[in-house]
Amino acid sequence: MAPLLLLCFLQFLLLLGTSSAQAEINITLGSSLTPQGPNTSWLSPSGDFAFGFRPLEGNPSSYLLAVWFNKIPDKTVAWYAKTSSVGEDTPTPVEVPSSSVLRLTAGLLSLRDSSGDEVWSPRVPAVAYARMLDTGDFVLVGADGAKKWETFGDPADTILPTQVLPLGTALSSRLISTDYSNGRFLLAVQRDGNLVMYPIAVPSTHQYDAYWASGTVGNGSQLVFNETGRVYFTLKNGTQINITSAEVSPIGEFFYRATLDPDGMFRQYVYPKSTKTRNLWESQWTLVGSIPQNICNAINNAKGAQAGSGACGFNSYCSFDGTHNQTTKCECPQHYKFFDEKRTYKGCKPDFEPQSCDLDEAAAMAQFEMSSIDRVDWPQSDYEEYSPIDLTECRRLCVIDCFCATAVFHADTRTCWKKKLPLSYGNMAESVQRTVLIKVPRSNNSQSQLSNDSSKWKKDKKYWILGSSILFGSSVLIFTYNDLDKATCGFREVLGSGASGTVYKGQLQDEHATSIAVKKIEKLQQETEKEFMVEVQTIGQTFHKNLVRLLGICNEGTDRLLVYEFMTNGSLNEFLFSDTRPHWSLRVQVALGVARGLLYLHEECSTQIIHCDIKPPNILLDENFVAKIADFGLAKLLRANQTQTNTGIRGTRGYVAPEWFKNIAITSKVDVYSFGVILLELVCCRRNVELEIADEEQSILTYWANDCYRCGRIDLLVEGDDEANFNIKKVERFVAVALWCLQEEPTMRPTMLKVTQMLDGAVQIPTPPDPSSFISSLQ
Ligand SMILES: *[C@@H]1O[C@H](CO)[C@@H](O)[C@H](O)[C@H]1NC(C)=O
Ligand SMILES: *[C@@H]1O[C@H](CO)[C@@H](O)[C@H](O)[C@H]1NC(C)=O
Ligand SMILES: *[C@@H]1O[C@H](CO)[C@@H](O)[C@H](O)[C@H]1NC(C)=O
Ligand SMILES: *[C@@H]1O[C@H](CO)[C@@H](O)[C@H](O)[C@H]1NC(C)=O
Ligand SMILES: *[C@@H]1O[C@H](CO)[C@@H](O)[C@H](O)[C@H]1NC(C)=O
Ligand SMILES: *[C@@H]1O[C@H](CO)[C@@H](O)[C@H](O)[C@H]1NC(C)=O
Ligand SMILES: *[C@@H]1O[C@H](CO)[C@@H](O)[C@H](O)[C@H]1NC(C)=O
Ligand SMILES: *[C@@H]1O[C@H](CO)[C@@H](O)[C@H](O)[C@H]1NC(C)=O
Ligand SMILES: *[C@@H]1O[C@H](CO)[C@@H](O)[C@H](O)[C@H]1NC(C)=O
Ligand SMILES: *[C@@H]1O[C@H](CO)[C@@H](O)[C@H](O)[C@H]1NC(C)=O
Ligand SMILES: *[C@@H]1O[C@H](CO)[C@@H](O)[C@H](O)[C@H]1NC(C)=O
Repeated sequence: MAPLLLLCFLQFLLLLGTSSAQAEINITLGSSLTPQGPNTSWLSPSGDFAFGFRPLEGNPSSYLLAVWFNKIPDKTVAWYAKTSSVGEDTPTPVEVPSSSVLRLTAGLLSLRDSSGDEVWSPRVPAVAYARMLDTGDFVLVGADGAKKWETFGDPADTILPTQVLPLGTALSSRLISTDYSNGRFLLAVQRDGNLVMYPIAVPSTHQYDAYWASGTVGNGSQLVFNETGRVYFTLKNGTQINITSAEVSPIGEFFYRATLDPDGMFRQYVYPKSTKTRNLWESQWTLVGSIPQNICNAINNAKGAQAGSGACGFNSYCSFDGTHNQTTKCECPQHYKFFDEKRTYKGCKPDFEPQSCDLDEAAAMAQFEMSSIDRVDWPQSDYEEYSPIDLTECRRLCVIDCFCATAVFHADTRTCWKKKLPLSYGNMAESVQRTVLIKVPRSNNSQSQLSNDSSKWKKDKKYWILGSSILFGSSVLIFTYNDLDKATCGFREVLGSGASGTVYKGQLQDEHATSIAVKKIEKLQQETEKEFMVEVQTIGQTFHKNLVRLLGICNEGTDRLLVYEFMTNGSLNEFLFSDTRPHWSLRVQVALGVARGLLYLHEECSTQIIHCDIKPPNILLDENFVAKIADFGLAKLLRANQTQTNTGIRGTRGYVAPEWFKNIAITSKVDVYSFGVILLELVCCRRNVELEIADEEQSILTYWANDCYRCGRIDLLVEGDDEANFNIKKVERFVAVALWCLQEEPTMRPTMLKVTQMLDGAVQIPTPPDPSSFISSLQ
C-alpha cells in the first residue's frame, strides 16, 4: 500500500504544479483534538484541508467531526462523520458538545464524550499514525505503512479529486446545507454495476423510484473523480461515462468538489485557489457541471405513480432554473405558505381555514373561488375525472366539493380532474398545457367579480340555448315530422332497433333520391330536450370518414328523430357472421377504420364523445366497405336517467367493459375495451360469445384468444383462413393489441391513438399482461 500513498503524493505534486509542497505530517499515537482550545484540527501539509471539529451553524455549542477546505473563508465541509448504531437505523451525523475528545491512542482513533463513552470510531485496530493528506483524504495507517481506513472510503455527500467510489458505496445528501442529517436523496454506486439516484423517504431509508441511472447493470465498475477535473463512471471494459467535467485551467489553480446537494442534484464546483486566478474567477464555488438535467422533471418522470412528495415538499412545486446556475426552487402556491421557510422540503400549508363539508353550494361559492396558477401542475393526487365538461363547470364542481383543493382542466379533451390534499410532485414547466385552478378563499374584491361573472355567464348560456335552435344552417337540415313520415313511407321498413330507438329506411325526395336511415329516439324524457339539442349539435359537428354522417334532425313536440346517411353494405354483424368469410385484407381495413373513427371521437373532435355501445350492429359499411361508426353521441342522452346498476348499463353483453359493473367512473376506455372485442371478432370471424360451440374452451373468444396467445398458438384462431395464415405476424399483432384493449384495469388499456399506432405497426407492442377481466364482463 505504501506505493499507493507515494503515488497519491506524486499526483498531488502534479496537481499543485509546484515543487514546494510540504512533507506529510504524521499524526502520532497520543495526539488528540478537542472542539475548543489550541488543537481543534489537524491540517494537511499545504494547509488546504483540515480534519477536526467544526462549530455547527445555528447551534454553536455543538460540533461536527469533519474534513473541510481550510483555505476557503466559509470552510466548506467535504466529509463528516456519521454513526450507524447497531440495527438498521439511518446513520446520523456526529455532533458533540465541547467537552468531547478525539484521541489517537493504543492503535485506535476514538471520539469520546465527557463521561468517557465512545461516540464514534472507525473501529480499525493497530493504527500506527494518521495523516491529513493534501487531497482532502484523512487516513489511518498501520505500522507496515498500509492504509487501514480513510475518509475517502466512507464518503458523506461529497467527493474530491483522486477519490474513487467502488461498487457498494453511496453518497447521501444533507437535509439542508446546515443540517447534516441524511437527506432526501441518494447517489448509489450499486453492486449490480448501475449508478443510480433515488429520492429517499426521510427519516427512513426507503427509496422511491430512481430519477437518474447510468443504465449499466452488470457492466459498471467505479465512480471516479479524476485529478484532471472530470467525474466519470468506468465500466468493467474500461469505457468511461462522463458525469460532469470541469474545463478550467490551469487545473492546479482550483479547488474541486462534487456534491450530492440537498435538492437532489449532483453538482461539480470549482473555487479559485490563488490570488492569480481570483482576479479572473469570483471567490466562490462556481458550478461547472451537474446531473440530472432538470431534477423537477426527472423526479416526475420516474416511472409509475407512487407515494412521496416529489422533488419538493407536499403542496409545493418545484421550479428549475436551467438557464443560469441550474438551481432548483421549491415554492408555495398562492394562499399557501411554508411550514418552515428554512426547510422548504417540509412543504406548504394553506393560510386559510379548510372548507367545511356542511356548506351548501351557495355558501361554498360565496366563500371560495378557483384561482388559476400559471405553468404549474400536480400530476398526481387526482381523485375524480369528468369529461366532457366545460371550464365553468370544472370550477364549480371543485368549489362546492370540500375534498377538492385544485382542479385541472384540459381544453382539448374537455376533461376536468379534481385533486385533493396533500398535492404531490408539483412542477413548474413551460410545457404545462392545462388550466390549473387552485381553491382559495374568495376576497371581497372578487366577490363583485363573481356577480359580474355570473351575470355574464347567464347571458352566455341564454345565447347558447338560443343558438342551438339556429345551429345547423346549411350543414344539417331540420325536417318536419311530416317530411320524415313521407320519406319512410309511414315508418314501414325497419332496419334495426336498439336501446336508443328504432331505425327505419327512407328516401329523400331530392334530386339524388338520397337513401336515408331515420332513427326514432324513444325513452327520451321531456327535460332532456335541452341536452338533446346540445348533443345533436355535438354530433352535427363531427365529420370523419369513419363516422356515419348526421344529415338532419326533427324536433317536434315529443318526437325526436335523427336522419343519417344510409349505408348500403349493412353492419359488421352481417359482414362478419354470415356464411362466407370476408377477405382478411377487408377485415384489416375495417379494423383500422373503426379504430380511426373512435380515435376521432375520443381525441380529435371539439367535444370528446364516448360511444359507450361499440358493437358490430353499430359499425356500418358503405359501398366501398369503409367502416362507419353509428349511434355515437347518444350515450349521454340516454344515460341521463340511469344509475350505476346493471339496468343502467349502456352497452351490450359481451362487449361492455368491466367497469360498468363497478362503481368507478366511465371513461373513453370503455370504448377501447369494446374495440378489443370487435378486433378479435374481426380476426376470427366469429362472435365473442358462442355458447353452442362444442369445445367449451372456445366458447368465449376473449378467453380463447388469450389462451392461444399465451401458448404461442395464434394459428388456431385463424385455422382454415389461408389469407390470415399468410399474414400470421399481423394476426399476432392484432391479437396482442386486442389483449391490451381488454385489460381489466381501464388505465392499463391504451388510448385509441396508441391503438392505431400499434395496429399500423408504427410502434412496438409490449407483451400484454394476462387479462383476468373476462369473467366480470360476462356477468
Ligand atoms: C511517518 O511515519 C512513518 C512510519 O513510522 C515514518 O516512516 C515516516 O518517516 C514518518 N514521517 C514523518 C514526516 O515523520
Ligand atoms: C497541541 O498539539 C501540539 C502538537 O501536536 C502539542 O505539542 C500540544 O501539547 C497540544 N496541546 C494540547 C493542549 O493538547
Ligand atoms: C453489458 O455489456 C455487455 C457486453 O458489452 C452488453 O451486451 C450489455 O448490453 C451491457 N449491458 C448494459 C445494461 O449496458
Ligand atoms: C485520471 O486520468 C488519468 C489520465 O486519463 C489516468 O492516468 C488516471 O489513472 C486517472 N485517475 C484515476 C484516479 O482514475
Ligand atoms: C464497453 O461496454 C459498454 C457497455 O456494454 C459498451 O457500450 C462499449 O462499447 C464497450 N466498450 C468497449 C471498448 O468494449
Ligand atoms: C468525456 O469528457 C472528455 C473530457 O471533457 C471528452 O474528451 C470526451 O469526449 C467525453 N466523452 C464523451 C462520451 O462525451
Ligand atoms: C443562481 O443565480 C441567481 C440569479 O442569477 C442568484 O440569485 C442565486 O444566488 C444563484 N444561486 C446560486 C446557488 O449560485
Ligand atoms: C370583507 O368584507 C367583510 C364584510 O363585508 C369584512 O368584514 C371583511 O373584513 C372584508 N375582508 C377583507 C379582506 O377586506
Ligand atoms: C362589475 O360590472 C360593473 C358594471 O359593468 C363595473 O362597473 C364593475 O367595475 C365591475 N366589477 C368588477 C370587479 O369588475
Ligand atoms: C356491398 O355493396 C356493393 C356495392 O353496392 C354490392 O355489390 C355488394 O353486394 C354489397 N355487399 C353486401 C354484403 O351487401
Ligand atoms: C327515470 O327515473 C325516474 C325516477 O327514478 C322514473 O320514475 C322514470 O320512469 C325513469 N324514466 C325512464 C325513461 O326510465
